[in-house]
Amino acid sequence: MNNTPAQHLTNNQPPTTTMKILVTGAAGFIGSHVAEALLKRGDEVIGLDNFAPNYSRVRKEANLREYAGHERFKFVEADLRDAQAMRDLLEWQKFDRVMHLAAMGNVRYSVEHAQEYTAVNIAGTVNLLEAARLSGTRYFVFASTSSVYGNAPIPFVETAAVAQPLAPYPATKIACEVMAHTYHVAFGMKCTGLRFFNVYGPRGRPDMMPYEFTRKITAGETLRIFAEGRPQRDWTFIDDNLSGVIAAIDAGCDYEIFNLGRGQPIGLSRFIEIIEGLVGRKANIELAPLPPTEPLITYANVEKAERLLDYHPKISIEEGLSRFYEWYRQATH
Ligand SMILES: NC(=O)c1ccc[n+]([C@@H]2O[C@H](COP(=O)([O-])OP(=O)(O)OC[C@H]3O[C@@H](n4cnc5c(N)ncnc54)[C@H](O)[C@@H]3O)[C@@H](O)[C@H]2O)c1
Repeated sequence: MNNTPAQHLTNNQPPTTTMKILVTGAAGFIGSHVAEALLKRGDEVIGLDNFAPNYSRVRKEANLREYAGHERFKFVEADLRDAQAMRDLLEWQKFDRVMHLAAMGNVRYSVEHAQEYTAVNIAGTVNLLEAARLSGTRYFVFASTSSVYGNAPIPFVETAAVAQPLAPYPATKIACEVMAHTYHVAFGMKCTGLRFFNVYGPRGRPDMMPYEFTRKITAGETLRIFAEGRPQRDWTFIDDNLSGVIAAIDAGCDYEIFNLGRGQPIGLSRFIEIIEGLVGRKANIELAPLPPTEPLITYANVEKAERLLDYHPKISIEEGLSRFYEWYRQATH
């Protein structure tokens, strides 16, 4: 891996001209924030999503409504698995960048749905890479995940071996990273993979812990807690994640993989305590053993992103969860 290509952009200035950018997963949590941020700074955005049933279409339409009225935005409802539709879209629009965020993204659900994850995350990504190649799109940035590290030594660093994932979901993301590498080598496509670490905040996914725990504690339902609350996760607030994503889009590296985490793992017990404080109610807890598909800890080394993308995550878990909770209360009433 070569660290030099992005160095000319370490001052993190946006390109002087605006770009036309395809954002896949634009109705989702992270995609809706990325599309909105790109529009705000002047880019033209085409958003793609198929409203996959991993959570409600109503929630995804609400995400879209936050920015879809923008004059430089168009929305395309299409499925990544439709190779012809991907080719037609990229041929029609001629994008400066592809920001690929659409995916099936839940580790636990993936365990019994390996075929669906393979079709959407691997074949879908290859459909998009192929469409990018055929249309002459030069820059491809895509979401990977901290889960690729499995039980690797901490803190996780991009140079660690990632050939032993614990579930189908990270296995599919590793496949995306290596497939993108082949497009870089064979066709000179500039590809950047971003390993996100537990992103949370307003518009957060209902199947992720901040939303699920808040809902259950509020309703007096029982939380199922693994390994007596010892698991730790490197929670990253959406605004911090967004700063890294936008910097990577602008940098246009040749081929790079970056960790985008906070670099400060939080224990599950502490995480629950903060939510209890916000909701004003104690959680009912049921203990369960840690499944072999879950690592005990995720912990990002973010030095590479600091150096090459000027990425400096700032939001503490206390502030981030409080901003999440403020949104949650409005969104669920
Ligand atoms: N949220 C996190 O903590 C996290 C962590 C690591 C990686 N990621 C990755 O970041 C990306 C965005 O995640 P998110 O949390 O915003 O998830 P999300 O589910 O909110 O967004 C993903 C979007 O992709 C769409 N999609 C799914 N299958 C599709 C298909 N076949 N065709 C077109 N669209 C499809 C979904 O409808 C959804 O709106 C994903 O690639 C995910 O794997 C997220």
